[in-house]
Amino acid sequence: MPLQTEGIVIRNGRIRSLYFILEIYCPPIANQIKPGQFIMLKVSEDSSPILRRPFSVYKSYPDSHPEKQRRGCLFVLYKKVGKGTEKMTALKRDQKVNLIGPLGNGFSLPPLPSSADIALIGGGVGIISLYPLAAALKGRRLSVFIGGKTRSDILCAEDFKKLDSIISVATDDGSLGFHGTVVELFSSEIKTFKKNEKCYVYSCGPVAMLEALARKVKSKRFICEASLEARMGCGFGACWGCVVKTNDPKTPYQRVCKEGPVFSLEDIVWK
Ligand SMILES: Cc1cc2nc3c(=O)[nH]c(=O)nc-3n(C[C@H](O)[C@H](O)[C@H](O)COP(=O)(O)OP(=O)(O)OC[C@H]3O[C@@H](n4cnc5c(N)ncnc54)[C@H](O)[C@@H]3O)c2cc1C
Ligand code: FES
Repeated sequence: MPLQTEGIVIRNGRIRSLYFILEIYCPPIANQIKPGQFIMLKVSEDSSPILRRPFSVYKSYPDSHPEKQRRGCLFVLYKKVGKGTEKMTALKRDQKVNLIGPLGNGFSLPPLPSSADIALIGGGVGIISLYPLAAALKGRRLSVFIGGKTRSDILCAEDFKKLDSIISVATDDGSLGFHGTVVELFSSEIKTFKKNEKCYVYSCGPVAMLEALARKVKSKRFICEASLEARMGCGFGACWGCVVKTNDPKTPYQRVCKEGPVFSLEDIVWK
C-alpha cells in the first residue's frame, strides 16, 4: 500500500561525475518496497519543481535486516540530468523530504527452475532497478549485462560482483568492455545459454534499448520482463501522463506508474 510520508536525509553525495547517492531514513517504505517498485520524491522544499520525481530504490534495509545501524534506510542512486535532480544534489543531512511509495508493480519472481539461465540487462540508470532483484535472487548464478554511453556511466558493477554474478560491460564509445550497445553484447552471449531451457531476462533502460532487446528475444525460450522509464506526473495512476501502448485488446493503453513499471516485454507495442 503506497504511503505519502516524510523521510530524513542521512547523507547525499557525489559518487562520480554526474552520479550521486542519497540515503534516506524512512522505515515505512524501507519495510515494504519490493524489487522493481519505485518512489516519487519531492526533491526540494520550494515550489520548483512542483512535481515529484520517480526513482528506483537501489538498496533498502527493513527492520529485519542484519545490519542494525542501517535499518529503516533506503538508498537512491541518481544522475543529475535536469532541474529536479540538480536541486536534489543540495539536500542536506537531517533535512526532511517528502516521498510517496512503494509505487507500481515490481518484477515477478516465479519459482525459477534451478537450471535456468537468468540474465539481467541494464542500460544507464536502468541497472539500478535491477540490483534489488539480483539481491532477491542471491544464490543464483546471474549473468549481468551493464551498458552505458561511456565508462563513467557503468554503475553498480562492484555490488553485482559481491552477489557472485557474471558481469559483462558494454560502452557505446568502447571506453570500457565491449564496444557497442548492451543489447549487442547480450546477443553475442546468447549462444552460451542452455539451448533447451528457458532463459529468464530482466531488463531496464531507455526505450530504444528495450525495443532492440524485444527484437532479439522473440523466441518462446525467453521469458522477459522490462521496467520502463517514462516521464511521470503523479506516479500513482491519476494523470495518465505515462501511458504505454500494449498488445492487450482490453486495455491497450496502460500506465507505467500503475500497471508497470514492469511489463512483460512481449506485451509492449513499440512505436
Ligand atoms: C520508475 C522510474 C525509476 C527511475 N529510477 C531512477 C533512478 O534510480 N536513478 C535515476 O537517476 N533516475 C531514475 N529515473 C529517471 C528520473 O526520474 C529522471 O531522471 C528525473 O525525473 C529527471 O528529473 P529532472 O527534473 O532532473 O529532469 P528534467 O529537467 O525533468 O529532464 C531532464 C532530461 O531528462 C529526461 N528525463 C526526465 N525524466 C525522465 C524519465 N523518467 N525517463 C527518461 N528520461 C527522462 C528529459 O527528457 C530531459 O531530457 C527513474 C524514472 C522512472 C520512471
Ligand atoms: S504518472 Fe500519473 S498516471 Fe502515471
